[in-house]
Amino acid sequence: MILKITGSGPLSGRVTVSGAKNAALKIMAASLLAGGPCRLTGIPQIADVNTMAGVLRGLGAVADFQQDGCVIIDPRGVNRLEPSEELVIRMRASIQVMGPLLARFGYVKTRQPGGCNIGPRPIDLHLKGFAALGAEIKEECGYVSAKASALKGAEILLDVPSVGATENIMTAACLAEGTTVIRNAAREPEIIDEQNFLNRLGANIKGAGTDTIKIEGVKELGATDYTVIPDRIEAGTFMTAIAVAGGEARIENTIPEHQQALISKLRETGVEIIEGDTYVIVRRCPKTRLRASNIRTMPYPGFPTDVQPQFVAAMSLSEGTSEIIEGVFPLRFKYTEELTKMGAKVTVDGKQAIVTGVPTLHGTTLEAPDLRGGAALILAALAAEGVTEISGIDHIDRGYEDLPGKLSLLGASIERIDVTKKRQAG
Ligand code: UD1
Repeated sequence: MILKITGSGPLSGRVTVSGAKNAALKIMAASLLAGGPCRLTGIPQIADVNTMAGVLRGLGAVADFQQDGCVIIDPRGVNRLEPSEELVIRMRASIQVMGPLLARFGYVKTRQPGGCNIGPRPIDLHLKGFAALGAEIKEECGYVSAKASALKGAEILLDVPSVGATENIMTAACLAEGTTVIRNAAREPEIIDEQNFLNRLGANIKGAGTDTIKIEGVKELGATDYTVIPDRIEAGTFMTAIAVAGGEARIENTIPEHQQALISKLRETGVEIIEGDTYVIVRRCPKTRLRASNIRTMPYPGFPTDVQPQFVAAMSLSEGTSEIIEGVFPLRFKYTEELTKMGAKVTVDGKQAIVTGVPTLHGTTLEAPDLRGGAALILAALAAEGVTEISGIDHIDRGYEDLPGKLSLLGASIERIDVTKKRQAG
């Protein structure tokens, strides 16, 4: 399957954002702690969610998708404590089952998730946290296990505010004896969402959204229904799409408070944004060019690394030169090699990219190297002259619920083409 995109000028209309991938995956994993079935709504229909459902089923839990787009997770049948190696390699978020399994069953063993297309992604901080809670950690031949007869609350200071480590430690500490304090915790909205879910199960967690999270261990947890927050990265992708292609869109089901870093940067480039309660309206006159702007990605509430590639696509068509510093995943610039094939001028030096805006990009044949890098190529193609064909779109389908379909709703000319059929016909 490839995407065929014809640069078609300004976009307009309405689009609705799905539930947050990065909240849904963690809350699905945290459901392993529940005492009964949990009905989760706002779960996006994306490949990563299917992978997490596969991980949970492999452990013996029920993960049932319902007609209305929700999933029921019942962990009462869990009888295996080793997540599928194949799925852990496919999706790093699979390791989020470690905290809940360790807390509930005193053991977990998994394949090390390793690096990925945006650079090395270690899990040392997850493991240090489990060790501080009293688990015995063993790492050998690419596998890691954690074992504890009983976890005990502890003071844990994270070297860097890792989102995944904060969440994994938070779930592990829910059933530990006594109090756990996580300092220098990540402050992402998805962590608040996970805290809210766990507290609905009966956990006692305070402070998510700040850099200090306090967890008072409880004996057991119950069950609950829960709706996950909207996806701020998907919303940010649509906002940036309007910046790139011009036009006006109302983006529904978004929390403007979660978008402040992007909103302020887009305004700096000349994009007009109206913030509603659960929506934003984004406007950019197609006749004027964007102004260049510098960004440095940082943990929340700084500029999100997951919108860096899309923002670079916008800056590649701006008037002037932008300096982009990647402060979270230093190797996250692979997609710029593809952008330059469209005529973009981007020079990468380590964690810095210098983007010199050009008046036009041209369509060509590209390959999406990763999820957000793939989204950036789609955005650039919307504004490019001529036709762009993008392969590797399974990366994009991992994390966006029908991004091509939603962009079509805004008037983009974008279609999926089955290349195997095309070849057979040829
Ligand atoms: C999550 C998001 C991802 C987002 C990232 C940063 C999910 C499924 N993924 O990834 O989309 O880009 O947050 O907002 O929610 N680090 C260590 N040791 C560790 C853990 C992390 O050194 O044990 C480093 C990483 O290499 C990276 C930094 O910490 O440089 C931040 O990574 P982290 O916040 O953990 O990202 P993820 O949770 O993997």
